[in-house]
Amino acid sequence: MKKAKFITFEGIDGAGKSTHLAWFAETLRQRGINVLVTREPGGTPLGEHLRSILLSQPMHAETEALLMFAARLQHIEQVIRPALQQGAWVVSDRFSDASFAYQGGGRGVALAKLEQLEYWVHADLQPDLTLLFDIPVAVARQRLSNNVTLDRFEQEKSVFFDRVRQAYLERYKKYPQRFALIDAAQTPDQVKVELEKIIVSI
Ligand code: TYD
Repeated sequence: MKKAKFITFEGIDGAGKSTHLAWFAETLRQRGINVLVTREPGGTPLGEHLRSILLSQPMHAETEALLMFAARLQHIEQVIRPALQQGAWVVSDRFSDASFAYQGGGRGVALAKLEQLEYWVHADLQPDLTLLFDIPVAVARQRLSNNVTLDRFEQEKSVFFDRVRQAYLERYKKYPQRFALIDAAQTPDQVKVELEKIIVSI
């Protein structure tokens, strides 16, 4: 049996990653793989409390970064590591790349500080694979405009999302072997074809 894999989905709000994640996990299950789907911020009772605060409460950018990593530590220890140890594959809707993109790129938190947090919280754990759903900001915003309510991040302006997108692409350039870059402006069916190829290759 293949070693349990830790796979993360990333991209700006409106890229469509959550829809594709559900399909991706289901396809893995059909291949007989035991899959645990989870998300960040969240994934644990404490993490979900922190999520509701993070998505609604204005705060200092560095407080936001610290809370993201606090929720992450709990998630790793309580959910991710135990699942991987038991042989389940873990598919997470966001992980640390989101902190580098949103708190780093979007809010301007220093890269060195985020790297310290990453080292503190998960020096010995990285995703085996990260799917980055890349999309022009204008297209993503058009999709978000169908949503009735927008959270604190989704309410940010286009320039914020431009910085988030660029920071994600920087992460991709820094770790090209870990990332799969997906053109999320394609139709859902075209994206599925790409995901199928990825599933076959892992
Ligand atoms: P998101 O996956 O977009 O949830 P939903 O699809 O339900 O809207 O995640 C919520 C928000 O959290 C998203 O706007 C990005 C933000 N976020 C960060 O800013 N930093 C992080 O480290 C993580 C994990 C998420």
